[in-house]
Amino acid sequence: MPFINELVAQNQQQLEQEKHEKITNLTRDKKISRPSRFRFGPYEVMTTLTTRILGQTHVLHAVEDMLFTVKADFNSKHRPLSVNLFLGPTGVGKTETVRVLAEAILGNADKICRIDMNTLAQEHYSAAITGSPPGYVGSKEGQTLFNVDYIKGSFSEPGIVLFDEIEKANKDVVRAILNILDTGKLVLTSGAKELDFSNALIFMTSNVGVRELTQHINTHQKGWRKWFGIKPKNENDIVEAALTAHFDPEFLNRIDRIIPFNCIDEDMLGNLVNIELEKLNHKLNRRNVSLALTESAREFLCEDYDQRYGARSIARRMRTELEPKLARALIDFPEANSFVAFVGDKNIIVTPENS
Ligand SMILES: Nc1ncnc2c1ncn2[C@@H]1O[C@H](COP(=O)(O)OP(=O)(O)O)[C@@H](O)[C@H]1O
Ligand SMILES: [Mg+2]
Repeated sequence: MPFINELVAQNQQQLEQEKHEKITNLTRDKKISRPSRFRFGPYEVMTTLTTRILGQTHVLHAVEDMLFTVKADFNSKHRPLSVNLFLGPTGVGKTETVRVLAEAILGNADKICRIDMNTLAQEHYSAAITGSPPGYVGSKEGQTLFNVDYIKGSFSEPGIVLFDEIEKANKDVVRAILNILDTGKLVLTSGAKELDFSNALIFMTSNVGVRELTQHINTHQKGWRKWFGIKPKNENDIVEAALTAHFDPEFLNRIDRIIPFNCIDEDMLGNLVNIELEKLNHKLNRRNVSLALTESAREFLCEDYDQRYGARSIARRMRTELEPKLARALIDFPEANSFVAFVGDKNIIVTPENS
């Protein structure tokens, strides 16, 4: 099968290129001679981010600014190291960006203190952010959803905190977060315990403004207004209006960077499949197994792309269409180490590479 050799050669070339870029950026990090208590190298972190997060160049520029500011370490001791708000629809890489940052800075994508506002929106959970009130069944005073170690980080590493989907938080929770942004601290209701966020990078995500923006784009790019030449409003103004309608100005004023994410375009799908494949291969490598995709399999996975779910629809298709076939091949061919996926009979087929 000649195409497999081509695939392998192509992969090899890409690896070489990545290795080269990594070495140059490592060298640049080593040349930073100004002492900093933080161990991470901003250039190297950016290399990881640019290979893993697609189509969000302006987001990565903002993150780069943040990394250098934190590394230079002249921040106030009385507020978090950095406060960022990621805006955008589902499946465009908001959470993934924070996870990749954690992986690049802390060596582990899961070392994040993540608070999901979806859960906190329910009345009795909201107290969990400030410590459970006495009387709530199953509560213990002073216990919160926070992972204290992940917030604190260490002398040489920042902590990373993610407040996901903050538009769902109720007023009490927003007030608690405001306090954190303002003072770098959160005093739990019991009064006995205080959480320190002054060494933490804080990220918040939200879809505020997405509905308004989509509506605007639909009416202006497709509707009659386009034909009558009615000038659309600036997109930033639309997002800003939605933000101020939803959050108090004092809350918005305490955010260092408000960063809107782009939608995932169809021309990015092939590269997204590559990234998902790489993640899958990373897991398989532990068992000494690897998987390659032919062009037909790649195209199959990109079919029926639904922009409403962004990259999630690709990840789901890999899980439902590819992984079961791979699992079956792994069990049917216990001796094989390298597998290839192609399309036959309108379905994905996975076989050992040399069969
Ligand atoms: N811009 C992107 N670049 C690379 N992968 C992405 C991107 N956006 C989404 N993904 C993939 O899709 C999945 C869902 O993305 P996620 O960041 O959780 O979405 P959300 O924006 O809703 O937080 C992730 O596992 C990631 O692999
Ligand atoms: Mg998310």
